[in-house]
Amino acid sequence: MKITGATRLAGIMGWPVAHSRSPLLHGFWLHENRIDGAYVPLPVRPADLERALRALPILGFRGCNLTIPHKQEALRLVDRVDPAARRIGAVNTVVVAADGSLEASNTDIYGFCENLREQAPDWDRSSGPAVVLGAGGSARAAVAALIDTGVRDIRLVNRTRRRAEVLAAELATPDTRITIHGWDAIDAVLAGAGLLVNTTSLGMSGEPPLRIDLSPLPLSAPVVDIVYVPLETQLLAAARRRGHVVVDGLGMLLHQGRPGFEAWFSAPARVSGELRAALVETLAPAR
Ligand SMILES: NC(=O)c1ccc[n+]([C@@H]2O[C@H](COP(=O)([O-])OP(=O)(O)OC[C@H]3O[C@@H](n4cnc5c(N)ncnc54)[C@H](OP(=O)(O)O)[C@@H]3O)[C@@H](O)[C@H]2O)c1
Repeated sequence: MKITGATRLAGIMGWPVAHSRSPLLHGFWLHENRIDGAYVPLPVRPADLERALRALPILGFRGCNLTIPHKQEALRLVDRVDPAARRIGAVNTVVVAADGSLEASNTDIYGFCENLREQAPDWDRSSGPAVVLGAGGSARAAVAALIDTGVRDIRLVNRTRRRAEVLAAELATPDTRITIHGWDAIDAVLAGAGLLVNTTSLGMSGEPPLRIDLSPLPLSAPVVDIVYVPLETQLLAAARRRGHVVVDGLGMLLHQGRPGFEAWFSAPARVSGELRAALVETLAPAR
């Protein structure tokens, strides 16, 4: 990569940020499009977030992504917030406008929808209720995405009932009902479902496994896991063995990056097999 006096800049703010795959993702697209640009990790402490965001236009940055722990806090620090981010209560993409003001959006709904469309193209959204496991930040994006896709019945399973109640109250619409269930009811929840989505951190490397018996789930239901480390979680492996269509979490990560890249660098961000392979290489367990 050659840095010149005209290099266009974007990056990702997080604390810590070293684990992020976004520099690799955007670096791939910059290289593919032969753009004189750089996308860099920006380790920003929570107490410095406002000053760091306001420094973006001063330093000539086109914008940035935001990751843990900044996604919620940034919502109140920027100048404009798009409806998707407001709905989820978190932002992950900031674009510096021509006048130096900060426009924020959340591209996780887009990433979730595109990934599902790509990896489960034959899924019929009217085939039965969608089961969503978890009620954290990513569950909000998944639930909003399913509502937008036309799902009319969502069964939400979460350990902390109150968190699920708040999510349901904030996201349910007149057309889509969200019912709340405990893990002890999982067999009944899976029965007759048309889609299963894990948004909990269970099954992620370093976290406890997600152990559920999939036998009540109709074989026609695709199984989505938004965890992508490891790429094939125990849930996906079990679903694959039973013959379900499986959807891994990497595609969501790749697709959510596209709108930011296209806004900052005015070039297409293609999700290709080559890009996937480059990212998959970084997900292999350390030896
Ligand atoms: N593919 C992508 O692009 C993408 C995007 C975002 C996130 N992710 C992945 O999604 C996962 C969740 O992220 P998040 O931001 O939504 O996290 P979060 O806001 O912290 O939510 C975590 C969820 O997992 C549940 N959970 C955690 N430990 C549990 C346990 N021992 N037993 C039962 N439930 C448990 C929590 O339940 P309680 O409410 O009861 O605590 C909550 O519902 C992470 O692995 C993250 O890497 C992937």
